[in-house]
Amino acid sequence: MVELSTKYMGMDLRNPLIVASSGLVNSLEGVEKCAESGAGAVVLKSLFEEQIEADTKELMEHIWLNGHTEAFDYVRGMGMSLGPSDYLKLIEDVKKKVTIPVIASLNCVSAKWWVDYAKQIENTGADALELNISVMPSDPNRVSEEIEKQYYDIVEGVRRHINIPIAVKIGPFFTSIARMARELYRRGVSALVLFNRFYQLDIDVDSIKLVGGNPLSSPKEMNLPLRWIALLSGRIECDFAASTGVHNGIDAIKMILAGAKAVQICSVLYQNGVEQIGRVQKEMEDWMKGHNFESLSDFRGILSQEESDKSELYERLQYIKALSGKKD
Ligand SMILES: Cc1cc2nc3c(=O)[nH]c(=O)nc-3n(C[C@H](O)[C@H](O)[C@H](O)COP(=O)(O)O)c2cc1C
Repeated sequence: MVELSTKYMGMDLRNPLIVASSGLVNSLEGVEKCAESGAGAVVLKSLFEEQIEADTKELMEHIWLNGHTEAFDYVRGMGMSLGPSDYLKLIEDVKKKVTIPVIASLNCVSAKWWVDYAKQIENTGADALELNISVMPSDPNRVSEEIEKQYYDIVEGVRRHINIPIAVKIGPFFTSIARMARELYRRGVSALVLFNRFYQLDIDVDSIKLVGGNPLSSPKEMNLPLRWIALLSGRIECDFAASTGVHNGIDAIKMILAGAKAVQICSVLYQNGVEQIGRVQKEMEDWMKGHNFESLSDFRGILSQEESDKSELYERLQYIKALSGKKD
């Protein structure tokens, strides 16, 4: 008998498989299907900053055009509660229907919109909030401290106003992920989700135009989050959730060996249906039986750098032998 239950951000999960924020969990039916298929928790599709901004702008334009200038500032202040009401309704409906933890998700570029809204999300009953912070560091004039501060400001702003656990989902593009992770943890983050997989850019050489790349990951992409979870888990005291490239139970097991508390899956569910959650779970259980592990805590993090006597292996970046042309 093996036991997959775990704690993530203080929440009890029947298993560590979380359906990642995506269109799969953008409706009550979608969430119910994931819960029926065995998900340990879900992260709802992010509410994007632009959605709130656009809704508010539209309304303000209307007021402006109709000459109600005195209402302008009032609506500005009210903006938060207008557009995104559908999202709050989704949380409310989902919480009535499923018993697994429901994590809301906000896509943030700045702190300005989110503080009030995060409070409403908490009041509506979400069990936790994942901040999907995405800042494009493309401006050569912006120093990294300034960009990092943007992350800290968002987290501090939201943390001050809500009591439910906060996870932060980041991408891998920092000069020092380790420091970033520690600074986020110090600001009250309960979990870090490594990593978001952002919109990919590609080029169609026939039409000679920019096109979107494949929105779905391939299993090869799991090595990057795997390494960073192995490097940071145990050294930074928050929970870690893996995201990107986990396509089967063995991938999930690797993430847990590296130290992940939870494993988020998305692309593989788009490819094979949410029923895949059950298959991933079964593969995990089979592996655990084969290795005589009864629970996740029996092997979680045993291959993290913190637990290793070969810590240099985790930091190796170059193929020295291959590059020098020597055999072995
Ligand atoms: C269609 C689609 C929509 C997504 N929407 C969001 C989103 O709203 N918020 C978010 O944080 N991540 C979003 N993601 C990213 C996923 O949550 C996940 O981090 C990413 O797909 C990598 O995991 P995977 O390899 O299991 O697919 C989306 C991914 C896909 C494919």
